[in-house]
Amino acid sequence: MSMTTGSPNMRSFAKDRTVADHKLTRDTLRRILRFARPYRGRLAIFVALIAVEAAAGAVTPLLFKNLIDDGITAGNTQVVLTIAAVVAVLAIVSAGLSVADRWVSAQVGEGLIQDLRTEVFDHVQRMPLAFFSRAKTGALVQRLNGDVLGAQQAFTSTLQNVVSNSLTIVFVLAAMLSMSWQLTLLSLVLLPAFIFPARWFGKKIAAITRESYALNADAAQIMNERFNVAGAHLVKIFGDPQRESQSYAEQVGRVRDIGVKRALYSTWFRVGLTTLASVAVAIVYGLGGVMAIRGQLTVGVVVALTAYLGRLYGPLTAMSNVQVDVMTALVSFERVLEVLDLEPTVAEKPDATDLRAAKEKHGATVELDAVSFRYPGADEVSLASLESVATLQGEVHRNTLDDVSFTVPAGHMVALVGHSGAGKTTISQLVTRMYDPTQGAVRIAGTDLRDVTQASLRATVGVVSQEAHLFHDTIAENLRYARPDATDAQIERALEQAHIADLVASLPDGIHTVVGDRGYRLSGGERQRLAIARMLLKAPDVVILDEATAHLDSGSEAAVQAALDEALTGRTSIVIAHRLSTVRKADSIVVLSDGRVVDQGTHAQLLARGGVYAELYRTQFESGATVAA
Ligand SMILES: Nc1ncnc2c1ncn2[C@@H]1O[C@H](COP(=O)(O)OP(=O)(O)OP(=O)(O)O)[C@@H](O)[C@H]1O
Ligand SMILES: [Mg+2]
Repeated sequence: MSMTTGSPNMRSFAKDRTVADHKLTRDTLRRILRFARPYRGRLAIFVALIAVEAAAGAVTPLLFKNLIDDGITAGNTQVVLTIAAVVAVLAIVSAGLSVADRWVSAQVGEGLIQDLRTEVFDHVQRMPLAFFSRAKTGALVQRLNGDVLGAQQAFTSTLQNVVSNSLTIVFVLAAMLSMSWQLTLLSLVLLPAFIFPARWFGKKIAAITRESYALNADAAQIMNERFNVAGAHLVKIFGDPQRESQSYAEQVGRVRDIGVKRALYSTWFRVGLTTLASVAVAIVYGLGGVMAIRGQLTVGVVVALTAYLGRLYGPLTAMSNVQVDVMTALVSFERVLEVLDLEPTVAEKPDATDLRAAKEKHGATVELDAVSFRYPGADEVSLASLESVATLQGEVHRNTLDDVSFTVPAGHMVALVGHSGAGKTTISQLVTRMYDPTQGAVRIAGTDLRDVTQASLRATVGVVSQEAHLFHDTIAENLRYARPDATDAQIERALEQAHIADLVASLPDGIHTVVGDRGYRLSGGERQRLAIARMLLKAPDVVILDEATAHLDSGSEAAVQAALDEALTGRTSIVIAHRLSTVRKADSIVVLSDGRVVDQGTHAQLLARGGVYAELYRTQFESGATVAA
């Protein structure tokens, strides 16, 4: 592959030069090399191919020199034709080599991307829920994708540039010096006049490019936010289309201005580069021509020297920026490693036991024993470098749950009631071990959840959450997510039990109808019944139900209620109740206030005692009761 002066390495200028000052630790380098290890054979072939290509590129001008001096000047047709043929063959071989080296480097690069992506995915999905509640998923995904691509470049294009350019420079300089050291030195005199402005332009273009990326990202952000359903809805209700358009136009206008500026600077840079190279060529022709007339040089040498000059300036400029390139790739790598280094705060012990065994023996009781809990802060679960794009909130170092104790005997139902924000959903998060308690213990079948395998816990506890989420997939697949081996008949039965079979049957493709974000839209009540069906299919021994706070219409309400009756019978259940009908069915009611258990008993007992429950009854349940009755 030959480097021409007309194509400076523009990509490198999109990078931030400050990364060049970044320090990498030896440990990071070692870990980076670990990723390269599976590819070391192919990397060696890659480097060898690049070296051969660089050598082939450097030989051609020498051949031209011989063609002119030994062939044309000497009047030897044989030599002229032979060398011309060799040059042609060399060109074809070089082309073949470029394809081969791209093939090898693509294998390495894409393979590395695959490795990094798989490893990152595997690691991130094991992170505790707290991680996802902090990091903006979009920003996280975007950053990881960008970093993975950047990291891969350390081993492909950056390696190629370094090897190819440095070898070309060595070969070309050696060849030039061997022909005429005086002319070589003279033509290099122009170099400083060339490298220093190039570096200045590089810096300038890098800054402009970064700014244009930021402006573009802002414009995209506006579109993203306004064009999703929730945003569009908000604009339609409160917004002013004219104001929206105007502010978008202003943003896009800034993108236009910076685009023009960038085009201009890049052109100045390229034109300057070509001009300087041309001037250098003119100098060599001028001085070399005079020397040739005086018989100090042959015509072939003059031609070869000018050809070499053309091959020298491109690689020299590229190498003057190579440090930024290398460091950018390595820093991307480092940021991927940083994600892989995050310790999951909720991890499975190596000697974790199977919860199902304990359950057989002791029955599926659920027990909260003096549980206190505080949601982890950003410093505990997030990445420092991600915080710039993450949701930054004021740190609340306050307990969400305080000394909470209650027991749900096997097969019983306990209702959790309390004001909004009392900590009800938080309790469900602890029983499913999305988090570990800060103090105290959560036990199922007498076993601390920190001592059981996550798979057995998942098999034991089923949740229908406040906002039932469905993946963009068919109803059948959404249900099978809880139990991959479920047959269609079992799915139909679960839908039946959840009182949603009729609705599903009326959909165009039945259980194969695609639902979720971009699919068929289900109402809140329908979604919740599907979530109940999903849970029924799994048939867990412990059920946690977070009732939807939003009021359902009476038809939907009755259907959900019937589905729940079916779902809860015979199971140990914790129901976060917002409806009187549910509360009444409970064997016991736990009243929460500000993260503390303030009372516990049956509906009649609690009502007689007054206090928080009586107040909740008046404000929440009684009004809901008329709907639910
Ligand atoms: N991921 C989180 N990080 C930090 N604080 C949280 C988090 N989730 C909830 N909280 C806080 O914990 C407290 C209890 O929240 P929780 O969701 O348990 O309330 P709730 O009783 O379920 O309320 P509701 O009836 O409105 O659903 C609230 O003050 C809430 O702001
Ligand atoms: Mg809640």
